[in-house]
Amino acid sequence: MERTLSSVYASMGGLDQGMHQQHRDQTGSFYTPFEVASETVLIAAVRRLCFLYCADPDRVRRCLEKPGSDPQPAEQYFEAMLKWYVVDPAGGDGVFAFAWLSLLENLCHVLEKDPQLLKEAAERTHLFDLQPEPVAHFKHMVASYFNLKPGKLGSYTGNVLDTALLFKSSPVSEVLALGGYDLVVGNPPYIGEKNHKDLFDEAKRYPFGAAHYEKNMDFFYYFIHLGMALLKAGGVMGFITTSYFFTADGAAGLRKAMDQNGSFVDLARFEGGSLFKDAAGQSNVIFHYRRGVQEPCRYVEVPAKSKTTDVTERWRQSSSVIWLNRNQIVSRFGNFYFSMHPGEPLAIEELEAACGKTFGEVFQVRQGIVSGYDRAPEVGVFVLTPEEVLSLGIEEALLAPFYKNSQVKRGKVDLEVKYYILYIPREVEDFETRYPNAYRHLSRFRDKLSKRREVANGVRPWYGLQWPRTAALFEGPKIVVPHRALNNAFAYTDQPFYGSADLYYLTPLVGLEEVKPGNTTNRGGLSQEDLLAVSLILITEIYEFWLSVRGKRKGDVLELYATPLRQMPLPPLERRDASYLKLKTLAVDHYRRFGHLCNDDLRAEAGEVVFNWLGLSEAARTTIYDYFETKQAKPIQKRRKHYE
Ligand SMILES: C[S@@+](CC[C@H](N)C(=O)[O-])C[C@H]1O[C@@H](n2cnc3c(N)ncnc32)[C@H](O)[C@@H]1O
Repeated sequence: MERTLSSVYASMGGLDQGMHQQHRDQTGSFYTPFEVASETVLIAAVRRLCFLYCADPDRVRRCLEKPGSDPQPAEQYFEAMLKWYVVDPAGGDGVFAFAWLSLLENLCHVLEKDPQLLKEAAERTHLFDLQPEPVAHFKHMVASYFNLKPGKLGSYTGNVLDTALLFKSSPVSEVLALGGYDLVVGNPPYIGEKNHKDLFDEAKRYPFGAAHYEKNMDFFYYFIHLGMALLKAGGVMGFITTSYFFTADGAAGLRKAMDQNGSFVDLARFEGGSLFKDAAGQSNVIFHYRRGVQEPCRYVEVPAKSKTTDVTERWRQSSSVIWLNRNQIVSRFGNFYFSMHPGEPLAIEELEAACGKTFGEVFQVRQGIVSGYDRAPEVGVFVLTPEEVLSLGIEEALLAPFYKNSQVKRGKVDLEVKYYILYIPREVEDFETRYPNAYRHLSRFRDKLSKRREVANGVRPWYGLQWPRTAALFEGPKIVVPHRALNNAFAYTDQPFYGSADLYYLTPLVGLEEVKPGNTTNRGGLSQEDLLAVSLILITEIYEFWLSVRGKRKGDVLELYATPLRQMPLPPLERRDASYLKLKTLAVDHYRRFGHLCNDDLRAEAGEVVFNWLGLSEAARTTIYDYFETKQAKPIQKRRKHYE
């Protein structure tokens, strides 16, 4: 086999595999696969060349990958790249440095240049690391490959946060005096502050560490700050990190500094888990950032693992690509968002910030009844048709009207009684003698009913419901919503409305059991009228948008489970603003006249009031309108199939 730098690196092999897990965690040493480092370095080089030669990125990339196809610019690029200063500030065993020199070696070979030229590039490729062994190993391998003295290769071993020392050391001081590095590449250590307090305490002892410290930060943020400090204007940083710093509270200062000092030029998000086999639960991104220049960013979503292609191939071949400008990335609150649907995360963020509260802070979200045995194949057990109730002679005192979740539509419940439930929440004294017909009916299923877990545990009698909840929940005023729906199918009702666990019941958190039909207020201060107003707010397009984008979804079907319902934003009802009072009037008037809120004009009017109340920007409104326009343009035949 021909001896090349990549084969030399492959032959080194053992550093990563031999590492003890504890040491790995403590130093954040998850080494990068060579192919991933190569792709990262290639993109960094392409972006640097684009800047220097005002060239098209695709053309530059083709030139570097197939220099023979366009030799003239390829030679020009090669000459320039030989002079670049390149550093990996968390160098480890030097995979990025090897990848960079391999890129040059390949160009040199195809363009039939003198391999001796590469020596100069090797001397300009620097490695920093806390650990002396991998750095020494790297230098030894590269020096012997190029027949250089190891001392000719630039490195720094020690804590890079001690920038007073680092920036004065050779060769770093010389490079900084020339303006800085052309490329800063690497995979800095990801170490959270939790459980690693000592590490951060030590970092804070250095002025650089103290200046960039943020509560709840990750250690790799320091390396991004360092990268910005090391880069020359127009230089490119290419780092593998996690994506948490886009929105994490502990990265607000980092985001501000990044936004002020340059812009992302390329970002790849790797879906479905970590790039590194031993770093569980990470969501990785590889970003390229240019110092000093604002420009659009190419965003790629790399699909989750497939059996056929490796990660680099998936990255190269992904067809989920979009160009984003700064306004689509940086929100007005300073968070970063990368999305194939730019605008949506920004609108969501605005909406949540304007609301200030979550629904779960003001409302209880509870599931309906679990009987443990609704119906046997031929006949109802707890859930009976009106005909079955009659023929079995079930005692009326035990019966409550029972509704299917398909009887809840946006703004309206269908009160036609198609079923009754035998509502037996607890032990009934003399059940057999007081309710002989119900007793006889349920006795037919006694064996199976007795096997239900709560019955076996002695929590419920064999003839009782497994999870009955409370009658007040079903009897009083409430908002109901099916657990799956094609839209935000919330509906208010003050009628008895018993349903099963595929329905959710939303009631005010405080004093909810006290709300009885006819009472206008409860102790929590939310009246029936408030509930009506809230149900009108929940059926507006704004909520459909939030639930579609931020909530859970399977295809076009919204999964309206407890968690997304509790996480929904809720406007400040307690302020009793004019907009809120208007919504209340709209809801109450309409409900009094028609007994429901299912009306397109009402919904549209309420949507406008909520928009104005929350003071959403024009951009957010446009995003929301566009969202529904696109959705309406889609054929809905298929979507309807299962849920209507
Ligand atoms: C995630 S590994 C990456 C190694 C290599 N760049 C790669 O991608 O395979 C992070 C490296 O950062 C080094 N490191 C951690 N803290 C450091 C610090 N304060 N100063 C310098 N290097 C540090 C570790 O020793 C480790 O080699």
